[in-house]
Amino acid sequence: MPYVFDAYGTLFDFNAAVARHRAAAGPDADRFSELWRQKQIEYTWTHTLAGHYLEFWTLTERALDYCFERFPSVDRGLRNELLGAYLKLDAFPDAGKVLGELKRRGERTAILTNGSPAMVGAAVEAAGLKSSLDAVLSVDTVRMFKPRPEVYALAIAEFACQPADVVFVSSNRWDAMGASAFGFRTVWVNRARAPDEYPDLPPAAVVSDLSGLLTVAA
Ligand code: LAC
Repeated sequence: MPYVFDAYGTLFDFNAAVARHRAAAGPDADRFSELWRQKQIEYTWTHTLAGHYLEFWTLTERALDYCFERFPSVDRGLRNELLGAYLKLDAFPDAGKVLGELKRRGERTAILTNGSPAMVGAAVEAAGLKSSLDAVLSVDTVRMFKPRPEVYALAIAEFACQPADVVFVSSNRWDAMGASAFGFRTVWVNRARAPDEYPDLPPAAVVSDLSGLLTVAA
């Protein structure tokens, strides 16, 4: 049974980029990091709705530039450092362990991400996850972002299986919504204990961290 993971927020901690430069970023660091992510994802939705594709890396840069405008207290001199850090994000502490354990159990594993291939490839390499992944699938192939069904269909094509055969793991509730609508068995990693949303498209299971997945999968 293939296990397919979202990348940013699920395997990689996108807050790690700003966290590494927290002292230099100053008192607005956390709000800056939150808005960076919010704008990055908003741009994926708006561009997909408009039928205008741009790589996730470009949207990540534009979202960052918006944040510098919004929070003038944060030094623009950090731009290159923050973008560089985004290519080498920390994996969550349990990511390597969980992927390794799934491989030991003989499962197939993949990433399915909005991230452009070079971007996610760099993060996978830096986090040492490459040997635990059978495939890294990017929306770049279909030039539209999650939660378009064409994106989730990439996993079906990769593993030549049915949607119900795939366990899809995401920390983003809206991504879990799209995956459930597509017919995947979805696990929502609700690290932040966020309130539930999309009640008509629930996940099959909710866990508080990636390790919880091993219990659900056992
Ligand atoms: C991704 C974003 C949604 O990796 O986190 O696809």
